[in-house]
Amino acid sequence: MIYLDNAATSFPKPEKVYREILRCMREYCANPGRGSHRMSIESSRVVIQARESVASLFNISDPLQVCFTKNATEALNIAIKGVLKPGDHVITTCMEHNAVVRPLKTLERDAGIEISIVQGNEFGEINPENIKRAIRKNTRMVISTFSSNVNGIVMPIEEMGRIAGDHGIIFLVDASQGAGTFPIDVEKMHIDMLAAPGHKGLLGPQGTGFLYVARNVKPNPIMEGGTGSYSEYLYQPDIMPDLLESGTLNTPGITGLNSGIEFIESLGLENLKTYKGILTHYMHEELGKIKGIKLYSKDSAENNSGIVALNIENADCTEVSYILDKEYGIATRAGLHCAPLAHETLGTIRTGAVRLSVGCFNTADEVEYTVKALAEIANRFT
Ligand code: ALA
Repeated sequence: MIYLDNAATSFPKPEKVYREILRCMREYCANPGRGSHRMSIESSRVVIQARESVASLFNISDPLQVCFTKNATEALNIAIKGVLKPGDHVITTCMEHNAVVRPLKTLERDAGIEISIVQGNEFGEINPENIKRAIRKNTRMVISTFSSNVNGIVMPIEEMGRIAGDHGIIFLVDASQGAGTFPIDVEKMHIDMLAAPGHKGLLGPQGTGFLYVARNVKPNPIMEGGTGSYSEYLYQPDIMPDLLESGTLNTPGITGLNSGIEFIESLGLENLKTYKGILTHYMHEELGKIKGIKLYSKDSAENNSGIVALNIENADCTEVSYILDKEYGIATRAGLHCAPLAHETLGTIRTGAVRLSVGCFNTADEVEYTVKALAEIANRFT
């Protein structure tokens, strides 16, 4: 199989990820923070190590400000529902995933928050000045995806962060696409809250994710329960990460995530970014030459997290994806990708699109084969 669905979840994982998950399960997987025996201590140690790895990759000065979640969606729900109050105004973009849009729309309908959605150009690129123009007296949060999951466009995060910071507004970034490919620095980019999955660019297993929360932001937890700390206390402790981490953690997953980050660090984030950028550029350039193919992504290493979205004239995107799988052994995703606002922006709300997303284990030969396959399929329909 040629796997080009890395924006949904990365595959394969580095060998070390498989090995460490298995070693954890077989050798020491007791409950972290809930015992003083050596297995529990070892579980706690790997969780601490993973927190430190996350902190180091994103330039987070205090690893305790990182809480582990089961995915980016959970992290975003904590950030959005835990902070916003009735009467607050939120600015977000036309390229957001439903993990941001649905909690916001629910709060708009049920809890009286107001939303402004800043529009972009035909690729969904945002002019940060339009964020500034949308600010109101009651604006409490700016939320932006780091990069679109539909076409890979990268947002001007640093400029948006500066604008939010200058106005005392909380800046929340959804790094579901981009984490593990682009350098993300919470200090330099003025990010107050950063949500990311562990199983995409960070190369960990599914069931992992995290939320970073700056010290001056105190979300209300959306879940309370056992934390292994302050057990005599009948309310949720308000120290991080316990505040946002109730119940037994996914220790095997978290150690796998740590191994994924160690793999990234060992190869170098810049090298991975360059490599994925070369593959994406090659794919975009070659597909752009094929008659009948319409591309919705931008060809830019600096402005694309590794995604090429396309349609073939006269062909349904799900049929194209089906043919790629069945006849050529190529895994892609087709449809609306849980991001209707982005599809409105790209003009694909009625058609959907085929999405090819590269990972660090893809090769130039695989991309070349995929381009040939799409040329043959386009020829059938046009
Ligand atoms: N959000 C993931 C995707 O874009 C699942 O496919």
